[in-house]
Amino acid sequence: MESKLVDQFHFSSMVSLYASNRWWSGDTVAVVTGANKGIGLAVVKRFAELGLTVVLTAREEERGKKATEKLREEGLDNVRFFALDVSKAASIKTFVSWVETTFGGLDILVNNAGVSFNDIHENSVEFAETVIKTNFHGPKLLTDSLLPLFRLSPSISRILNISSRLGSINKVRNHTIKATLQKERLSEEEIEGVVKMFLEAVKEGRWEREGWPQIWTDYSVSKLALNAYSRVLAKRFEGGRLSVNCFCPGYTQTSMTRGQGTHTPDAAAEVAVSLALLPPHELPTGHFFLGFGPYNQSRL
Ligand SMILES: NC(=O)c1ccc[n+]([C@@H]2O[C@H](COP(=O)([O-])OP(=O)(O)OC[C@H]3O[C@@H](n4cnc5c(N)ncnc54)[C@H](OP(=O)(O)O)[C@@H]3O)[C@@H](O)[C@H]2O)c1
Repeated sequence: MESKLVDQFHFSSMVSLYASNRWWSGDTVAVVTGANKGIGLAVVKRFAELGLTVVLTAREEERGKKATEKLREEGLDNVRFFALDVSKAASIKTFVSWVETTFGGLDILVNNAGVSFNDIHENSVEFAETVIKTNFHGPKLLTDSLLPLFRLSPSISRILNISSRLGSINKVRNHTIKATLQKERLSEEEIEGVVKMFLEAVKEGRWEREGWPQIWTDYSVSKLALNAYSRVLAKRFEGGRLSVNCFCPGYTQTSMTRGQGTHTPDAAAEVAVSLALLPPHELPTGHFFLGFGPYNQSRL
């Protein structure tokens, strides 16, 4: 992945950037998954503060409703709640039809929901299937199901996948897997094939000697697949009115890191939201963003 440092956006001055480049309105609909806590909740809050209509989704109804009520108490009455478990096809189907009947379409999707079952220095793959289902198959099915509903207005619809640098291609040491994922004309079937190979290797106890990423292996493979899918999707819509990018928020203080990290979810959300709201003429597609202003940006 070739990378360059982009320093034209310093996120401390995002407020003025927002003021001069405001392309959205209260009718702009943004959907955020896994938003009852952590980075997802902070992203919802920031979108709502900036005046969009935001759909806070969460897999567990009580937790989602509670988070939404709290935001409403803070005066953010432009937040709606709907239950969505991204690992369940039926839940995705119900949600997508609710979006269609309630809003007629959407403008922004932030695939944020994610799991890891490891502590910082652990590397168990005991829950690999759940990790892959939640972090890759779920967002992929949700995205595919929502594709017909994106408004594709001149302001450009946007998908921002919250990913991780752990899913970078340079973490893969197996040449065959690496070559497959780096193919210019990579297909969704080939990505599915790589994921299937990993899950079979886990089942048969071969995964440790096959050159998969070495840290949080199941999580890394899920984000590797999410990045690859984002690249394929971005290519499919190249030159059209849908942009697809990934963002790694860096080491953030959330439940996933047991509260450890270099910055708060609010700080990570500030960057995520600023990327999701880039003015149409500055919005790239098929890019991977990492860190803070100046941040690192590379092609997926
Ligand atoms: N924190 C970091 O350092 C870091 C670094 C790089 C990338 N990320 C990514 O950032 C994203 C947000 O993570 P976070 O750090 O904010 O972690 P978090 O606080 O643990 O939040 C994860 C969220 O995902 C939800 N979720 C889990 N499984 C779900 C499912 N099946 N359907 C719907 N929602 C589900 C959780 O809901 P429950 O409350 O019900 O469990 C929770 O709301 C993830 O994609 C993660 O991989 C985080």
